[in-house]
Amino acid sequence: MISGITVLNRAPVHQVSANGNLLSANTAAISNSRDRIPDMGNTLSLKWQRSVDSANPDKLPLLPLWIADMDFETVPTVKEALQQRLANGVYGYSYTPDSYKAAVSEWFKDRFNYSVRANEIIPFSGVIPAIITAIHAFTKPGSGIILQTPVYHPFYKAVSSTGRRLIRSPLIQGKNRFEIDFAAFERTIEAEHPELFILCSPHNPTGRVFSKDEITALTDICLKHGVFIVADEIHSDIVFPSSAFTSVLNLENDRLNDRLIVCTSPSKTFNLAGIANANIFIKNAETRTRFLDTAESLGLHGHGPNFIQSIATETAYRTGSYWLKETLSYIKDNLSYAYYRLDEELPDIWHSAVPEGTYFLWLDFRKYGFSDAELEKLLLTECRIQANQGYIFGKEGSGFVRINAACPRAILKEAIDRLVRALKC
Ligand SMILES: Cc1ncc(COP(=O)(O)O)c(C=O)c1O
Repeated sequence: MISGITVLNRAPVHQVSANGNLLSANTAAISNSRDRIPDMGNTLSLKWQRSVDSANPDKLPLLPLWIADMDFETVPTVKEALQQRLANGVYGYSYTPDSYKAAVSEWFKDRFNYSVRANEIIPFSGVIPAIITAIHAFTKPGSGIILQTPVYHPFYKAVSSTGRRLIRSPLIQGKNRFEIDFAAFERTIEAEHPELFILCSPHNPTGRVFSKDEITALTDICLKHGVFIVADEIHSDIVFPSSAFTSVLNLENDRLNDRLIVCTSPSKTFNLAGIANANIFIKNAETRTRFLDTAESLGLHGHGPNFIQSIATETAYRTGSYWLKETLSYIKDNLSYAYYRLDEELPDIWHSAVPEGTYFLWLDFRKYGFSDAELEKLLLTECRIQANQGYIFGKEGSGFVRINAACPRAILKEAIDRLVRALKC
């Protein structure tokens, strides 16, 4: 039996609130708070807003399993700290206490054993704004930017909207997981001369957690060919016991660090995406100045984090490690449960052998021979599952679907039940 699955018997999923949201009927019996199906009415939740289908009240409720946030309440101490501050009611300009950067620095030291000093930390309004700033700062219009495709779709927009040239280096689908073709990566760099590489590590959507050897090989190639690196490490905390995360900063290579920015955020780790706060690590003083000057010229860098961002981030990094441990365990069980059901009941859907990182299921439906339009129709119209279609992550994602498993297990179970009903002959 898969651990935690018995609670499903106590959590029916077809209870619907007046505003159309899914609700669990018996929250009192629920032991793990992550099993509770949240009532997201009137919360302005992007993910759940579209799940309300008032035009079709007779249909199955839509299951919101798309955008990358969790259905779980954040760390209780974060909620309390925000409630306490908001109760004051006076919301004027705020400053960032020194303890903020100390908390950020301590988290990364404790968890990944690398050091960032306070002056090397730049709080920012998000990882994507930081990536766009870096593109402006370290490349020229028309220059090439290399991505390991399929990849998080806003990277493509970041390249095109800044007038840069997209260079693809596809990951290779192995038997058990996606792999990097290092020779092809280097050949592409030699042929196309990108100025910048956006590394997504852990990798969204494939869920790969690149090993220290892989990170070393990739960054060595970039160093050899003078390619600047933006490392998007936003998913670094969502890593399961089979894997170990290596930051580019763990390599402790000064030459590399001179042409590197590392993007981190508490948003995925503690379900704080709506708070829109990131911390960018830049070791080299000149690189930092250039980044900051560019941010200023783009009107992006101003007052540092506001008090909501700084209270949430500092409290989460100081007090959230136990919450994270429990959350990772729940998500890991979700992913294992999904893998088990798919292997038993829909073995034609490929997935990686073990969950390495991120809270996504990256599922390959190509054996069924559907077009992307047919796959989308199957998921959305027939199964009433709101997932991310693979093609949005680039043409290499065609025939795949990304399902967000950071949800109550009853919702995931219902999604798999629906897939099984639709696909099993
Ligand atoms: C790889 C990756 N980078 C960046 C982001 C978004 O970051 P932000 O909201 O801080 O711009 C996401 C969100 O899903 C992501 O998966």
